[in-house]
Amino acid sequence: MTDIISFSPSPSIFGFGSIKQLPEVLASNNYKKLLIFTDTQIAKSGILQIVLDLLEGSIEYEIFSAVPPEPHSSDMDKQKDRLGSGYDALLSLGGGSVMDFAKAMSIIMTHEGSLGDYLGEGLVPGPVVPIVCVPTTSGTGSQSTQTTVFTIEGVKRGVSSEYIRPVFSVVDPELTIELPPMVTRNSGYDALMHACESFMARPSSQVPDRPIRYQGSNPFSRALALEAFSHIWRSYKPAIYEGKNREARIGMSIGAHMAGMAFSHSGLGLVHALASSLGGMVDAPHGICLAACTRIGLQYNFEYCEKGFAVLDGIIADIEEISSQPSGKRFLDRLQQLINDVAMPSRPSELGIGKGDAEKLMENTLVQTRRIQTNPRPLDDGLLNYIKEGI
Ligand SMILES: [Fe+2]
Repeated sequence: MTDIISFSPSPSIFGFGSIKQLPEVLASNNYKKLLIFTDTQIAKSGILQIVLDLLEGSIEYEIFSAVPPEPHSSDMDKQKDRLGSGYDALLSLGGGSVMDFAKAMSIIMTHEGSLGDYLGEGLVPGPVVPIVCVPTTSGTGSQSTQTTVFTIEGVKRGVSSEYIRPVFSVVDPELTIELPPMVTRNSGYDALMHACESFMARPSSQVPDRPIRYQGSNPFSRALALEAFSHIWRSYKPAIYEGKNREARIGMSIGAHMAGMAFSHSGLGLVHALASSLGGMVDAPHGICLAACTRIGLQYNFEYCEKGFAVLDGIIADIEEISSQPSGKRFLDRLQQLINDVAMPSRPSELGIGKGDAEKLMENTLVQTRRIQTNPRPLDDGLLNYIKEGI
């Protein structure tokens, strides 16, 4: 353990219309040839065309538009030889799955072996093809982070390395205006949970040294997480129910971006560990798995987090102009109410998981060492009871 904290946020441009600056950014990095990753939705939506029109005549590019949602490691491994080489950078245009796909490809397009060889922390042996991100959702914050997540052997796992932190991102809320309500809801809940879990992460003074910046909560990450939480809480429902509300889209977009920056310097916790475990067992988006695991994760942590929860409750009271004494318990109630209001599951059983799956859920959670090391409460056998009751 050490008292030293490291900060390495990626440069980014933020704001409505910022996408127009993409060619300039690419030129300033002297990139001549790009491989663009995107998915069929973005290709059909017209967003890909907007980007291609901007790039026209200024840079050579190829496009891979078949990134699947919630990819498996084999989806990337099988593209390794097909995609060729000679790219100066990989441009990711899409949501979390697309960004994580591009990050994963950057590793195996640069280094030997398959993705599974780099699972864990700090195992990528050196620099990779640079990654530039243009997110089209407000959720994962992957444009700010050093991690790629995918399913491998039935569990959602990740590769974390400072080498795969994107070199630049252009975060333009305009690109999120047409996002359907369900995608806004699911990805937005991910951002909300990043802000909460980053704020609550185990203090950096109690986290052993690691090869990546998941170093526990610290002054830098807490400031980002709190501001992110405030933006996201204020904007989440309006963005879902009034998609064209520009202020709400800006709030979600900056909130998700800052939450990504926060947790990439603090780490996350049990809600994410449980959700990653659940995500490998059921076919549901990450945001939905997080909602289903929120109760178990936050109740398990309650004694360690009550004061922090009360801080978040105070922020909500301020936003909603309610005069009440901040309370950690009330924060959990408000969060539960939010999950109900936006019709997300609040128990794994709503996704088909039974009491008999509790051991497996626990076992797959314990392998999420990336998350567990920064959970406020150390994991002990008592967790199984919380899981059984929470299912
Ligand atoms: Fe997440």
